[in-house]
Amino acid sequence: MTDVIPPTIDIHLSPRDLRDAMEHDVRTGLTAAPKMLPPVYFYDERGSKLFDAITRLPEYYPTRSERSILDAHARDIAGRSEADTLVELGAGTCEKSRVLLDAMQSTGLLRRFVPLDVSDTTLWEAATTLAEEYPGLEVSAVVGDFHRHLDLLPTDGRRLFAFLGGTIGNLDPGQRREFFIKLGKVMMMGDRLLLGTDLVKDRTRLVDAYDDDAGVTAEFNRNVLHVLNRELGADFDPARFEHVARWNEPDQRIEMWLRSDQDQQIHVADLDLDLAFRAGEEMLTEISTKFSPAALEAELNECGFVVESMYASDGEEFLMTVARPSS
Ligand code: SAH
Ligand code: TRP
Repeated sequence: MTDVIPPTIDIHLSPRDLRDAMEHDVRTGLTAAPKMLPPVYFYDERGSKLFDAITRLPEYYPTRSERSILDAHARDIAGRSEADTLVELGAGTCEKSRVLLDAMQSTGLLRRFVPLDVSDTTLWEAATTLAEEYPGLEVSAVVGDFHRHLDLLPTDGRRLFAFLGGTIGNLDPGQRREFFIKLGKVMMMGDRLLLGTDLVKDRTRLVDAYDDDAGVTAEFNRNVLHVLNRELGADFDPARFEHVARWNEPDQRIEMWLRSDQDQQIHVADLDLDLAFRAGEEMLTEISTKFSPAALEAELNECGFVVESMYASDGEEFLMTVARPSS
């Protein structure tokens, strides 16, 4: 019997750092026109649970589509990468990591799992469960921000970097480019990137995935207001904000907004900030960009990657790309 190795956790984001970043981001976003909030604040404990519920919704096809690609091709991907370390960015509950870990175990090389996420409780729970499920696996969890802490990841071993769930689509084009370039610099020869991206498709299917009948996505969207109330002493009444999911054709992305249903004044005590919302005024809370395989490949090339393979799900709903740094 191989022993269970207790997981370790590296914290690059202290509660103080998180707090400073939140104060800065919220002040900047809420005083901009239109008002906007960065998506990272959705994922407190309640938000992570709501997101987990989203992944099981009948309308939310991305999780199932991506999973079907992993089920079909993970062994091939693991075999060709010859990786002994799985690094996962924005790992969340690590549901899909298991498919990759199983595939890497079957190559006989699997040694270490490095999940990174901002959401520390969700990450810690997942790390503990996985260490127990995979005796002998070193689980080195990292609490950090994938925009800022890529260069603090463990560098030994041959690494497969997984960035799943279409999370790359939540970055705007500038952030995305910066992210790819930084990642390419951090990756060494022999390391591979496995990237999950949602594909452009029928607009109704896209919108429905972000506006489900049960209202779970709406609750998730409004969760950011609960977070601001709790963390920054704001007095948002979430019931006064309506969930809006809309397809933006020129930018090829779904946008999530919160629409004020009346004229209202909001006070954010800890920022000493007073805000006015007009009836019908919308605040941008999330973008989810959809890709075409050709455009994605061109962008990766520009940012220092060579695409080795692309795997589409049945019906070309979702795409997984394996790429390596070009130098
Ligand atoms: N990979 C999972 C979860 C996707 S949800 C899946 O495919 O289902 C997005 C995850 O990214 C959440 O767990 C969230 O906490 C995390 N996240 C969002 N912004 C982040 C950031 N800037 N740095 C690190 N993690 C982030
Ligand atoms: N990465 C997920 C996506 O773009 C995140 C997500 C799914 C999301 N549903 C959401 C973010 C609703 C905000 C609101 O598909």
